[in-house]
Amino acid sequence: MHLPVVNLKPAIDATRGEWQAQLDAMFARGQFILGAGLAAFEQEYAASLSAKFAVGVANGTDAISLCLRAARVTGETITTALSAPFTGIAITSAGAKIKFADVDPETLQVDADDLGNRMTKRTAALVPVHLYGQPCRIDRIAKLGPMVIQDACQAHGAQFEGRPLTAFSDYVAYSFYPTKNLGALGDGGGIVTNRAGVSQRLRLLRDGGRKGGQVSYETGINSRLDEMQCCYLRAFLPHLPEWNAHRRRIAALYDEALSGCPGVRLVKRHGCSVSHLYVIRAARRDKLRAFLAERGIGTGIHYPVPLHLHPAFASAGQKKGSLPHAEKACREIVSLPVWPYMPESGAAEVAGRIREFYGGGA
Ligand SMILES: Cc1ncc(COP(=O)(O)O)c(C=O)c1O
Repeated sequence: MHLPVVNLKPAIDATRGEWQAQLDAMFARGQFILGAGLAAFEQEYAASLSAKFAVGVANGTDAISLCLRAARVTGETITTALSAPFTGIAITSAGAKIKFADVDPETLQVDADDLGNRMTKRTAALVPVHLYGQPCRIDRIAKLGPMVIQDACQAHGAQFEGRPLTAFSDYVAYSFYPTKNLGALGDGGGIVTNRAGVSQRLRLLRDGGRKGGQVSYETGINSRLDEMQCCYLRAFLPHLPEWNAHRRRIAALYDEALSGCPGVRLVKRHGCSVSHLYVIRAARRDKLRAFLAERGIGTGIHYPVPLHLHPAFASAGQKKGSLPHAEKACREIVSLPVWPYMPESGAAEVAGRIREFYGGGA
């Protein structure tokens, strides 16, 4: 069988007519940056997330970083040790001092208690991540006190217990990297908020501190979501609920087929997850990945090295052994195939191969 860990082609093919029409309209307008396509997408995206405002930017890293700049955060900022390196890069590039908290070993989401315990008088902001499409305990984190910037880069459409993520803080950052559960066909990012003042400030900062003219009022950056990416995003957005539902179905099939499998520990999810990634913990992880690869099954690791052990974040001063749950998880986790239009039979097939690897038969 051939089952890659992610396959964008079916979604691109299924929406060809829609994005082609958007591209035709864009060429007719002849504006490629900060045009009508972006304005329309921002409205449509905000509405889809039950938020008042959305601001399109160049990528998810900038989305987080611009939130920190908009909130004027330069002090200690705590995030999870288990995330994409870009979560950390966003924090350091905004000029803030980075520190990491450990994860809950059951869910792999940032541990709200550990986050609270690591806070000091100097803590200026928290950057919780909704990892793998599953909201973390944002209800508890929002009550800890400091400014909260949510990294929802992997969680388009996710809500926490029926409430939109904007109910918990004024800054929610997303990535439209192509493989995300809502992806462009290039880089892209966005921020949603319910506060008009926040959206205005973000619009200023993403466009060099300008207010539409050629005067910079402060040192913003150049980080705009271009019109061409908006064509794809506007075509894909109406399909997000159906694509998330398919991801959830695949995840449920994996849960069922892998439950009780020797060598496998399932990662706990709750009903709010949009299952951007399906991650398990596996004994002899690297051998399992090689076994699956030989049989045409792609896998990934999100992520192999906890952030406090990246040389780029040595300034946090958190050595090996300081965040044991994240460190152990990074040695065991493996992401299995999940994407819109993935055949449902694929989940049973992958699970069967995993059972075969561990000697339990298919
Ligand atoms: C959790 C998380 N945060 C931040 C980012 C950064 O997003 P981007 O690649 O669009 O800059 C990503 C994606 O790479 C991510 O998965």
